[in-house]
Amino acid sequence: MKATAKAHTNIALIKYWGKRNESIILPTNSSLSLTLDGFYTTTSVHFSEEYTQDKFILNERVVEGEQYRRVSEFLDLIRQQAGKSLYAKVDSTNEVPTAAGFASSASGFAALAAAGTKAIGQNMSDRELSALTRQGSGSACRSIYGGFAEWEMGAEEDGSDSYAVPIAPAEHWDLRVAAVVLSSTAKKVSSRAGMKRTVETSPFYQGWLNSIPTDMSQIKEGIKERDFQKVGEVAEANCLKMHATTLGANPPFTYWHDTTMTVMQTVRDLREKGIPAYFTIDAGPNVKVLYLPENEEVIEKTLRNIPGVADIRLSRPGQGVTYL
Ligand code: DP6
Repeated sequence: MKATAKAHTNIALIKYWGKRNESIILPTNSSLSLTLDGFYTTTSVHFSEEYTQDKFILNERVVEGEQYRRVSEFLDLIRQQAGKSLYAKVDSTNEVPTAAGFASSASGFAALAAAGTKAIGQNMSDRELSALTRQGSGSACRSIYGGFAEWEMGAEEDGSDSYAVPIAPAEHWDLRVAAVVLSSTAKKVSSRAGMKRTVETSPFYQGWLNSIPTDMSQIKEGIKERDFQKVGEVAEANCLKMHATTLGANPPFTYWHDTTMTVMQTVRDLREKGIPAYFTIDAGPNVKVLYLPENEEVIEKTLRNIPGVADIRLSRPGQGVTYL
């Protein structure tokens, strides 16, 4: 009863920002992302009668505390669905440098769900797997698929219609993403805590929600037509709206540092010079820059020269979950 799976992280172009149900993770809005190669998690799950409790090993170290609890509770869901009560050993390797500012929870829970369900003998459709993965970490449900994926928020209270669906495979469009890693790191509000505070207290939150349907239909059109300007403009504006909601929260907060804003301005300056580039930012200070292959050299060079930037990690569209 052992299986191994690999999953890549993803970057949201239309952000998931808020839950309507925290325990089974149901979102208040649909979101859309691009799965990225280069950043991934490989996970083996072994269920056995020999184990007297779950064990979680990450990058060759035994993990305890909150991270262990989230993994063990997720294994409970897998056991529940399979009607089995065996404990498991989970062995994960992360190729998602935390410093690159990508949450490893997306690739982590997607790989865990895929390996865990296979190890316990369940054969799931992509939709079922995505709906299960969602309950580990919302954004992870999009990492089941390669390329562009939409997490449809759904309407049912039991979450049965809240899962991701593929929009276009990685081969559809070679859209590139540069992860700009900043040297400064400050105390951070997790995405989980940040979205909760925003939903509960920000008067701007309703405005955010109202803007989603138009952003979503426009970006889907842009992806279909491979219209870089359309996709970039919608993604950048959507990111700014998400971050604007945090300033209205009580207490107010922002994920941006001074260098975050310098990078944003540099991207706007590139556009002024006729080099198409757009940015997006998740629940942290690092910036991801969207660009096209022909501009890779100038994009990388320009970003690297910004004071306060520690590293640039380039990435292409990646594949969905695979079994090893
Ligand atoms: C800003 O998926 O990390 O990156 O569901 O609580 O685990 P939980 O949150 P998480 O939130 C991601 C928020 C985001 C936007 C996005 O990826 O869509």
